[in-house]
Amino acid sequence: MIIESSKQVSRNHLFKRFPIPTNFGVTKESRVDRGKAWPAPAGATRTKSFEVYRYDPDSGRGPHVDTFEVDLDDCGPMVLDALIWIKSKVDSTLTFRRSCREGVCGSDAMNINGRNALACITPLEGIKQPVTLAPLPGFPVIRDLVVDMTQFFLHYNSIKPYVVNNEPLPERERLQSPEEREKLNGLYECILCGACSSFCPPYWWNPDKFIGPAGLLQAQRFIVDSRDRATGERLEFLDDVFKLYRCRTIMNCTEVCPKGLSPARAIEHIKIALLRKPA
Ligand code: FES
Repeated sequence: MIIESSKQVSRNHLFKRFPIPTNFGVTKESRVDRGKAWPAPAGATRTKSFEVYRYDPDSGRGPHVDTFEVDLDDCGPMVLDALIWIKSKVDSTLTFRRSCREGVCGSDAMNINGRNALACITPLEGIKQPVTLAPLPGFPVIRDLVVDMTQFFLHYNSIKPYVVNNEPLPERERLQSPEEREKLNGLYECILCGACSSFCPPYWWNPDKFIGPAGLLQAQRFIVDSRDRATGERLEFLDDVFKLYRCRTIMNCTEVCPKGLSPARAIEHIKIALLRKPA
């Protein structure tokens, strides 16, 4: 069966086989210690407990987990609202990325209760507590929940994420039929949040060589684009034991994609295209 969407993948079985790395790229020896516990504000009647990963390389202190009691009656409905509440009411040094706050920019991808997700579209209602918030696994930590995505975007850049077409420009735009446009569905919606690559064990093991699910999904987006004329070069570039074939079809990428896409399916389609490519 070809998995078309993350909705087809079980939500419960993957993490037992591939526990997330606990040092979050700090050092091999680093332990995550218990940090400070901040009590609920006086008079708060409805609270939720958050355990938040903290790390500031300039402080000389190792990574630790601070506990915050968030007043739910004073904060918005999403995990990102709780982080903003903590930063504005309790500890202004807490560091995280965010921008659109509606699941479009991908800035606030993080590990929430053991699984990668976007904080801005993860509701507080019904979430198991204490809510654990940690940076994206497998990426070097810059500070607290902010990770270094340089390598991730180098891989993205390597697949030439733009239409390559040196034919003379038409009078108006390069047109596509509805069928040709349809092929981009399930690929173009990627917001490059990094949730998939960060949850992919082969990406943890070979972050500098394996392009990873996000980059490969983007590669497929341009391979199937009817306006692109570089399909052959794209496939040749990807035909590599590390760039593409480190994928072991573990499916964590499809499991955690917050947009419901299936990078695993895109990767399979690239492999099939390579099999069919004339020698
Ligand atoms: Fe933009 Fe969450 S803040 S995706």
